[in-house]
Amino acid sequence: MDKLTISCNVTILTFDELNDMEKNLVVAAQNATTNSYSPYSHFSVGAAVRLSDGSVYTGNNQENASYPCGLCAERTALYYANAQHPNTPVEAIAIAAKNADGFLKTPITPCGACRQSLLETENRFHQKITVYLYGTEGIYRVDSIADLLPLQFTL
Ligand code: THU
Repeated sequence: MDKLTISCNVTILTFDELNDMEKNLVVAAQNATTNSYSPYSHFSVGAAVRLSDGSVYTGNNQENASYPCGLCAERTALYYANAQHPNTPVEAIAIAAKNADGFLKTPITPCGACRQSLLETENRFHQKITVYLYGTEGIYRVDSIADLLPLQFTL
């Protein structure tokens, strides 16, 4: 028998430890929560995607009375960016979430479907996507979406 141990490096930073470009992306994700359509969960998620040309596209979770029709903030932002700029690599995504009490202390992390979607973009452009997960008590930075989806499925 053999064993495989999988690890994931996460850097935890304060907002002030981010550089200006990182701060802009995190603030864009925070602001994007404002337009969340989440009457069922009352949980507002914002995502901001930065492309290699420096442009930033935002999205938020969009819910539906038929629950599975809804879409997470990450994929809303990612697909919007990819739809506008199909040939420009994505280099970073920031995610922020708030409930009735405000932004969460501990960041949320993308769901499995969003990880798989981001991974496809990372692989397509051969460009690592840095992930910033905003929490009021710390911002998690992960250097590649692949770190959040070990043993990835690709064709
Ligand atoms: N949600 C996101 O938008 N992103 C995540 O990473 C986790 C969950 C949304 C889906 C749904 O609208 C609400 O949060 C509650 O699950």
